[in-house]
Amino acid sequence: MLNVPSQSFPGPSSQQRVASGGRSKVPLKQGRSLMDWIRLTKSGKDLTGLKGRLIEVTEEELKKHNKKDDCWICIRGFVYNVSPYMEYHPGGEDELMRAAGSDGTDLFDQVHRWVNYESMLKECLVGRMAMKPALPKDYHEEKKVLNGMLPQSQVTDTLAKEGPSSPSYDWFQTDSLVTIVIYTKQKDINLDSVIVDHRDDSFRAETVIKDYSYLVHVALSHEIQEDFSVLVVENVGKIEIVLKKKENTSWKRLGHPLENHNSFIPKKDTGLFYRKCQLVSKENVTHDTKLFCLMLPPSTHLQVPVGQHVYLKLPITGTEIVKPYTPVSDSLFSEFKEPVLPNNMYIYFLIKIYPAGFFTPELDQLQIGDYVSVSNPEGNFIICQLQELEDLFLLAAGTGFTPMVKVLNYALTNIPSLRKVKLMFFNKTEDDIIWRSQLEKLAFKDKRFEVEFVLSAPTSEWSGKQGYISPALLSEFLKRSSDTSKVLICLCGPTPFTEQGMKMLHDLNFSKDEIHSFTA
Ligand SMILES: Cc1cc2nc3c(=O)[nH]c(=O)nc-3n(C[C@H](O)[C@H](O)[C@H](O)COP(=O)(O)OP(=O)(O)OC[C@H]3O[C@@H](n4cnc5c(N)ncnc54)[C@H](O)[C@@H]3O)c2cc1C
Ligand code: HEM
Repeated sequence: MLNVPSQSFPGPSSQQRVASGGRSKVPLKQGRSLMDWIRLTKSGKDLTGLKGRLIEVTEEELKKHNKKDDCWICIRGFVYNVSPYMEYHPGGEDELMRAAGSDGTDLFDQVHRWVNYESMLKECLVGRMAMKPALPKDYHEEKKVLNGMLPQSQVTDTLAKEGPSSPSYDWFQTDSLVTIVIYTKQKDINLDSVIVDHRDDSFRAETVIKDYSYLVHVALSHEIQEDFSVLVVENVGKIEIVLKKKENTSWKRLGHPLENHNSFIPKKDTGLFYRKCQLVSKENVTHDTKLFCLMLPPSTHLQVPVGQHVYLKLPITGTEIVKPYTPVSDSLFSEFKEPVLPNNMYIYFLIKIYPAGFFTPELDQLQIGDYVSVSNPEGNFIICQLQELEDLFLLAAGTGFTPMVKVLNYALTNIPSLRKVKLMFFNKTEDDIIWRSQLEKLAFKDKRFEVEFVLSAPTSEWSGKQGYISPALLSEFLKRSSDTSKVLICLCGPTPFTEQGMKMLHDLNFSKDEIHSFTA
């Protein structure tokens, strides 16, 4: 259970955050847990009914399989027989049936594009859709010109009209260095905007521009050293990635294009990219919550923007399982600043371990030196929501505190207009409060910051606030510093907490623009 009262947090819908669209998990029958599903997939049972054959599926054929006991769904061109999975689906059978006999890619992505269906449904694979996706128009052309010239990006006409203008790239070299330059054609670019991974001979730089992703993805023509640097010239929107050659020879070409090279597409249409990170430390924070520190590979540049989360992936009995987590700073006192080193090597997570949970006990079992895969960041918090802010209110329940950590650090360090930041932190007991003494110290040190703890099951000695989120608590707490002050209220916790909180805030006449709830 989360550190909030059980009646507001039913076990079966124990998802920590409200799901996109406000839906949540359904109770599953006994014997229908994720572990039971994995067991079934390993049992050797024929789950497709095709005796191991893979077939090409036409649209007409797909449409026929639209009943619960005969349900095929296409996701990204692959067709799965999901009938055996029906009773195991945490979102419920009806949700899964919405995509029955059709291409469910968009629906799937809207709800949980991070769920690793390929691994979970590998035994349910029926085959591919008969129609093959067309190659990008300029694919062959690009293969020839990838040599420092600027090939036309894979931009659709719609995107060209509605989205930001398409970035481009170039490269140049000295005896010892190769510099790849990405021209984003945007001003609000910083070191968070680009994620670089170099693995074997594959070089991948993904630049996130608003809701779009621009990818430079090549197999380099020569070897490079492990470390590289990333520089951003903000006012011209230029990103420079400086690679060190292993040998001082002249490169005739940068390399050859890999999948989706030089594409500029909506971020939601890109897959999640993972790299393996090493566990470097694990510390107890409360009786059930730990601070995990993961180290990025030296050949990765990744900074998780304020308010965003990543997905952690672990193989659990042979199936890859993915769960979202929100990186925090190592403490509330690590000042928020641009890193001195170009590569910010460590990512910290505050994670509550559920003894009966599926993923967190596995995470907890990891030894120092073991690896976990970490995805690129996701999330819809926009940092400019904090610009010129005067009052920041944070409402957190249990580990819903995690997104607040970076927001708090960022706001106190970078927003000169800020007059006050108030955190109302809901927990069950005093023992459940994460970083209590740090919060109290911060409130003492920085007069703009106040913290109020609210407990639902306190001991008799507790003299602070008691209860659950309520209109009375909120109206007393959410006092603007002036009638016209610019306010932001951030909200994060289990589904019922977030849903009730949102409703109360609307009833208290806060506008949509003044509220941000953290969701998957
Ligand atoms: C955007 C986002 C960010 C997040 N960030 C963080 C973070 O920073 N830190 C953090 O700790 N968590 C975070 N979470 C929650 C996290 O993703 C996991 O949901 C959480 O760690 C639980 O995972 P688990 O697999 O161990 O537990 P689960 O298997 O999901 O189980 C959790 C609890 O529910 C019970 N349960 C599960 N299914 C059922 C059922 N069908 N019937 C009855 N009981 C059931 C289990 O017994 C267990 O007690 C975040 C979630 C989201 C959406
Ligand atoms: C395409 C139609 C689908 C719809 C509409 C749908 C809907 C949902 C909903 C509403 C939830 C609960 C809310 C949430 O956790 O975000 C959920 C959870 C889940 N679904 Fe689906 N789903 C679909 C397909 C699938 C498929 C094909 C898989 C295959 C593995 C899958 C796996 C899961 C898992 C693992 C969860 C739990 C996520 C978590 O841990 O929070 N879903 N789904």
